[in-house]
Formats: sequence, C-alpha cells, structure tokens
Amino acid sequence: MDWLSSVFWAFWYILPAYFANASPVIVGGGRPIDGGRTWKDGRRLLGDGKTWRGFLGGVLIGTSVGLIQYFITPQFYGSLENALKLAFLLSFGALIGDLVGSFIKRRANLPRGYPAIGLDQLGFLISALAFAYPVKTLSSAQIIFLLIVSPFVHWGANYFAYRMGWKSVPW
Ligand code: CTP
Ligand code: MG
Repeated sequence: MDWLSSVFWAFWYILPAYFANASPVIVGGGRPIDGGRTWKDGRRLLGDGKTWRGFLGGVLIGTSVGLIQYFITPQFYGSLENALKLAFLLSFGALIGDLVGSFIKRRANLPRGYPAIGLDQLGFLISALAFAYPVKTLSSAQIIFLLIVSPFVHWGANYFAYRMGWKSVPW
C-alpha cells in the first residue's frame, strides 16, 4: 500500500468514531447519564455534559455512518455484519472513552466544558481503537498516524461547531 492509500484507509476506518464523538454536540441534551449523582469527593460523577441522548444518538449516528461506508467500500469490510459490528464498536468505544475522560476530569476538579489537553482529543480515540480491535484493526503506523492527526481534526471540528453556534466554547 502506498502512503496515500494508507492514510485514506486509516481515516475511513476511524470515521464512525469521529462521528460518534462529534454528534452529541448537536443531538445531546436532557437527562445526564449520572442522574445528577456525585462521587465520594462530593463532585459530579460525570457532569451535565454527558447525557443519554448524546450517548445513544452518537452510537446510532456512528453506526449509521458505518452502514453507508459498507455500501461504498464493501470489500474493505468483508460483510455487512462485519461493517456494522465494527462501526458499533468504534462508536460505542468512542463514547465510553469520552465518559471515562469526563470522570477523570471531574475527579481532577475540572468543571464541565473545561479543556483537558490530551484527554479530550485522544481518550475517545484510544478507547474506540481498543473496542474495535477484535473485529478489525489498522497497522501500527496507521494507528500512530491517527494518534498524531486526530487532535487537529478534533480542534478543527470543535472550532467549526463553535462558529456554527452549536457549542459555546471553541474547544
Ligand atoms: N454531549 C452529550 N452527551 C454526551 C457527550 C456530549 O450531550 N455523552 C454534548 C453536551 O452538550 C456537551 C457537548 O456535547 O456539552 C460537548 O461534548 P464534550 O466536549 O465531550 O463535553 P463537555 O461539555 O466539554 O464536558 P466535559 O468537561 O465533561 O468533557
Ligand atoms: Mg469538551
């Protein structure tokens, strides 16, 4: 594989995780997953930024992206079942990683929406890659590439969402 197709397939592979992580900004809101509960330290378990609607909507949108991808490049996935499994695990993994990130942020006494460099940009990605690993994975070079470029994609997407008025802060 030449480097350009290697880069393309890395993005193509991770796309459901990107969509799953970004869509709660638009579809989220309502009842928080932690139900307002606090941890031993008296601070919120996850905070108001992590909602059921965002989580389930993100999984649904990410998995749907995988379904569309299957019809564009069926040979990349082998079967529809494989494509759906992969997209679901990438999306679910991304959103679980996002929750773990918020849990850590709350323990560090960072308020909702406060930026945590590294955690915000890579937590969802590492978790998505780990969940999807048993179904299909990338080469180590492709994974390293995604770890390097994803923070920039994340910042770009957040800035875009901010300019569109979907988010109150550009990170
Ligand atoms: N969101 C949601 N449900 C989720 C994840 C995100 O509703 N499971 C929505 C919330 O409106 C959230 C926004 O998407 O404010 C942006 O997500 P994110 O940056 O992950 O959350 P933050 O508000 O920054 O909260 P935290 O400090 O916990 O990361
Ligand atoms: Mg945030």
